[in-house]
Order: sequence, then C-alpha cells, then structure tokens
Amino acid sequence: MNSGQFIKESREKIREELRDNRAIMACSGGQDSTLLAAIAAPFNSIKIIFVDTGLLRLNEVNRVDTLFKKFNIKYQLIDAKKLFLSNLRGVIDPEEKRKVIGKTFIDVFNKEAKKFDARYLLQGTIAPDWIESGGSSRDTIKSHHNVGGLPEDMELKLIEPLRDLYKDEVREISDYLGLPEVMPFPGPGLSIRIIGEVTEDKLDILRKATDITEGYINEKCNNKPWQYFCVLLPVKTTGVHGDNRVYGNTIAIRFIDTFDGMTGTFSRPDWELLSQISSEITDEIPEINRIVYDITDKPPATIEWE
Ligand code: XMP
Repeated sequence: MNSGQFIKESREKIREELRDNRAIMACSGGQDSTLLAAIAAPFNSIKIIFVDTGLLRLNEVNRVDTLFKKFNIKYQLIDAKKLFLSNLRGVIDPEEKRKVIGKTFIDVFNKEAKKFDARYLLQGTIAPDWIESGGSSRDTIKSHHNVGGLPEDMELKLIEPLRDLYKDEVREISDYLGLPEVMPFPGPGLSIRIIGEVTEDKLDILRKATDITEGYINEKCNNKPWQYFCVLLPVKTTGVHGDNRVYGNTIAIRFIDTFDGMTGTFSRPDWELLSQISSEITDEIPEINRIVYDITDKPPATIEWE
C-alpha cells in the first residue's frame, strides 16, 4: 500500500462525504485514532475531541496533549469521568460493560456534536474491530466499543476512513507521517482489565500496577512485547507481609506478541524483569499480594481478558 496515496484519498473521501457539513471525531491517543486525527487535522469542519473517561492510565491526558501539540492536532479535552463511572456502577458482565461504555461515548459525542452543529461522526474503526464485533455471518467475539455500542437509531452519520485497514497497515501509514508507535490501548480502557465491577479504588490499584509494568518494559526491555499490561482479578488469596497474614488481590500480567492483533502468542518473558515487576507491584501496592503471568495464546484466549 502507498501510504501517501492512502492519506490523500482518505482526505478526498472525507471532503466528498462531508460537503458543507461538520463532523466531530473522538481521538483516544491510540495508534488508530491518532492516525485519523492527523488525517482530519487540516479540516476546520471537523472538531476533534479527547474524552477523559476516567478509565485511562496514569499521565495519559498529558501524554496525549504533548503528542497532539507536536503534530499540530487541535482538540478539546472533555472531562466525562463521573458519567462513565456512574454508568458502569453495578455492571459485571463483559459484554454489557462494553455496551454501556459504547453508549456513554455516543451520548458524549451527541452532546458535543450538537454544540458544534455536526451531523457526522468520524471514527477510527479498523478491520479487526468490526470483524470481531460480528458481521452477518460471524459470531460476536467482543463488542468493540466503537462498533458494538452504536445505537441503531444514531443520529450522527458515520465516516470510517480506516475501516479496511489492519493494525500493521495502520502502523505503516503512521510511520510515514512520523507518528510514534503507540502500544494499543483499548477504547473501554482499564474497565475491561478489571474483572467484575469497576470502582474508583480498583482503577487506582490497576493504574499503579500498569504504570510500574509499563515503566519496566519501556526502560529495561530491549525486545518489547507487542502489548503488555496488567489485569486486576477478583481473586483474593492468602499472603504474608512481615509476620502477618494478609488476604489480598491478584494481578495478572499479560505480554503478547502478534502481527495484527487477530491471533497472537504469549511472550516468553525475561524472568528477571518479571521478578522485578512482581516485587515492585507487591511492595508499592499493599492491596496486592499475588502476581500471575498469563501463558495463553490467542486463540483460544483473546488478548484482553474481557
Ligand atoms: P482482543 O482482546 O479482542 O484484542 O483479542 C485485540 C486488540 O484489540 C484491542 N481491543 C480494543 N481496542 N476497542 C479498541 O479500540 C475495544 O473495545 C477493544 N477491545 C480490545 C486489544 O487491546 C488488542 O490490542
């Protein structure tokens, strides 16, 4: 594929489709939507928003701000932390979680679209998103938030310039534009890495564990896995701190290698590095007293746990 040609044609298609209308687009700071934001940046008729769902990692808001400024992508930060958390209260089922998040995103988009008088929604959906969300003849593996959560009667019309691309192609085009390689981070954020109900306390724990894990990999690992993250399990086990028995939570660490996210193998870890990550998490986060490592490929597992 010719990256320059793809970008040019995408802008032409957006221009043709929009004509005199306006659009909004939500960018998460991930590879797909950042590429789309860079493609959309020259359009004054497209308002780019970055939604703080409260399900983001530590320092994510600052990271995205720095990235967008560097690439001249004008955007508006929308603080929707309270809304997402209150809509997620009591939700345990993974599919319901994804649908609630999808719907909450759409509510936020609709509100912003009204303010901007936009009739279109520009989305960074790529091929694995809609393939795994179930086409007419496919089973629904997961409702990816930017597909499965869309209501049938959505007023905003969709424009999805990246919908035929796979992850490796997105990276190739991003590279062409000089956009940095960003590790994938799912739209539903940390919520699908908390098994069970999402609460502020659990988010706090997972944020710290994630930050420690990413820090070690980014600074000390020469051969980084394609994706690396933590999952907070609703499993309590017995441990010992000093002379005391403790009964704490469990973090699962997942490192995965894949070409395009569709299939993958768990990374064979550097045990010393893993041991350092484990020690730091249990030292720094008193609620956690056990760390396990996920040794499952995709399939049979998916990359995310929910
Ligand atoms: P799964 O868990 O489906 O993940 O094997 C494949 C890749 O997609 C990411 N992922 C998502 N990305 N919205 C996204 O934007 C989602 O709802 C979503 N679910 C999974 C996942 O992190 C992995 O890179």
